[in-house]
Amino acid sequence: MPRLLILGGTTEATRLAAALQNWSQLEVQTSLAGRTQQPVLPAGSVRVGGFGGVAGLVDYLKTEGIDLLIDATHPFAAQISQNAAEAAHIAGLPILSLQRPAWTPQAGDRWISVPDLATAAKQLADLGDRIFLTIGRQELAAFAHLRDRWFLMRMIDPPAEDAPLPLGEILLERGPFSVEHERSLLIRFQIDAIVSKNSGGTAIAAKLKAARELGLPIVMIERPPQPQVEQVTTLAAALQWLKLHC
Ligand SMILES: NC(=O)c1ccc[n+]([C@@H]2O[C@H](COP(=O)([O-])OP(=O)(O)OC[C@H]3O[C@@H](n4cnc5c(N)ncnc54)[C@H](OP(=O)(O)O)[C@@H]3O)[C@@H](O)[C@H]2O)c1
Repeated sequence: MPRLLILGGTTEATRLAAALQNWSQLEVQTSLAGRTQQPVLPAGSVRVGGFGGVAGLVDYLKTEGIDLLIDATHPFAAQISQNAAEAAHIAGLPILSLQRPAWTPQAGDRWISVPDLATAAKQLADLGDRIFLTIGRQELAAFAHLRDRWFLMRMIDPPAEDAPLPLGEILLERGPFSVEHERSLLIRFQIDAIVSKNSGGTAIAAKLKAARELGLPIVMIERPPQPQVEQVTTLAAALQWLKLHC
């Protein structure tokens, strides 16, 4: 029976694993990086932790007898996506990237699109004193030098104890969030501007609408480049690809 490895850690990966539960013609395994302390576990077989770069992943694909690879990792998880593309090429396996579409600005939005965190930090110079950082916990150091700003930093798990942090308050919350929730947060903390990654999807999109309603600017960090592999944006298209390859 063909074996599929899903590189996961996203809603899309979890939905794909759930949809494949009753596929008797395919054995499915999901791999998680292990970043979240209490992850939402996908249905079926799950493994956790890095593979050890491209060589480690190639080794894993061979040892486990994997036939098909779907990269359904987060749009900002660029390293694992690059590794997956290279490892699939070396091992001679078909690979598909399943990634939710990026958000696009709507009428009334005040977005400042930037390519990376360092540029995002520079853009804050003229955007007020109180900033809502919604970029997770791993890269807060990029804003730590801005000692004349106050930051509300939202994440699922707390940052590492030795991580350099900006001044401000940490808010531990896991989405999905409602527009009402986001609006009241922005008002309560007197936020002047938001920094976000262009993650896409619906679970954390309410902040975009709340910002639009309140006329707040969003410094939007755009996605890193993706490797050149076949890409789809929907579960249905991923299932179609699997039918063709099983
Ligand atoms: N909001 C979210 O849900 C979410 C989720 C994930 C990531 N992100 C964002 O993505 C960025 C980078 O995250 P990241 O460190 O996870 O990714 P990454 O930088 O692409 O990956 C770093 C290493 O982690 C391991 N890894 C990543 N995903 C894996 C998986 N599914 N299974 C096994 N190993 C995996 C690999 O280690 P080896 O080289 O040892 O194989 C990989 O080289 C951050 O900006 C983060 O905020 C957001």
